[in-house]
Amino acid sequence: MSMKMRALRIMLMIMLATLYGLSGVGDLARAEAEDSTPQIQRAAKVNTFNRLLKPPSERNLPPAEDGIHDPTSEGTYLLQSPREAFDSLPKSNSGNRVDWVKALEEKYIEPRFDRFDPEKKPMVFDLNIVREVKGSMPDVVYPHKQHTEWLDCSNCHPAIFIPQKGANQISMASILMGEMCGVCHGKVAFPVSECRKCHSQNKTAEAKN
Ligand code: HEC
Ligand code: HEC
Ligand code: HEC
Repeated sequence: MSMKMRALRIMLMIMLATLYGLSGVGDLARAEAEDSTPQIQRAAKVNTFNRLLKPPSERNLPPAEDGIHDPTSEGTYLLQSPREAFDSLPKSNSGNRVDWVKALEEKYIEPRFDRFDPEKKPMVFDLNIVREVKGSMPDVVYPHKQHTEWLDCSNCHPAIFIPQKGANQISMASILMGEMCGVCHGKVAFPVSECRKCHSQNKTAEAKN
């Protein structure tokens, strides 16, 4: 975009924002006006919240380099590097390259369900919820089983999902914005790029249109 076009667009955004009192849009326009980063780099920043879409060189860095642990703390250096820890686990083609569902199922790992109680077992709930999808994408099967092996009911109900089939409005847009399934997928569970893991049920011939 030329400077003139960009300036025009920003002015228009600020005008609209003032007209309609949309402070959010105004802030965005002002931030854009102040941000001198080239457009391409700013576009790349949009996805940086998605830790599981990192290029190979930045994936599973040693704790002192991962931007999460404190590199000035001695404790950080006692932690095993994830590359080493993940080496013997079943592989996947996305995220941190581990198939965690398989790792648990095939007992490569046996995590405690409760940090303080080594005996506590998860309350596994085997109920699939099928969400029909309009258009050509296969329907979404949400499996309670694989989730409740790791999580408590209260991790999702009622804050993220009302526990009633069809009661929640879920869209791909909201997931990509980090809501609904996107509260975890793309952050601590496999990323949104794995369409087929969620859209796993082909439509019956009659249902297709
Ligand atoms: C990872 C998130 C998550 C966890 C954890 C979770 N659920 Fe759900 N649950 C859902 C979703 C998604 C739906 C479907 C909501 C919809 O269709 O709008 C659902 C639906 C339900 C329903 C409605 C079923 C129906 O047919 O109407 C019940 C009951 C339910 N959950 C109980 C539980 C219980 C009990 C637990 C713990 C053992 C649990 N859930 C754990 C996400 C979760
Ligand atoms: C509270 C966190 C959380 C939410 C919300 C959540 N998930 Fe998950 N999901 C997980 C975790 C953790 C796993 C297991 C680790 C992994 O596969 O990355 C998982 C695994 C799955 C699997 C199993 C894949 C397999 O290999 O068998 C499917 C399918 C799935 N999620 C779909 C969904 C859908 C669809 C939604 C929204 C309706 C959703 N999840 C919401 C955390 C969540
Ligand atoms: C974490 C699970 C998950 C993943 C991964 C996922 N989707 Fe979805 N998708 C959903 C859910 C849930 C819905 C809402 C279904 C409904 O209407 O109830 C949905 C809806 C859709 C829709 C219908 C229109 C809309 O926006 O709601 C399309 C199209 C779609 N997904 C495409 C994709 C594509 C393409 C990918 C891969 C790039 C993908 N999805 C990955 C869970 C997922």
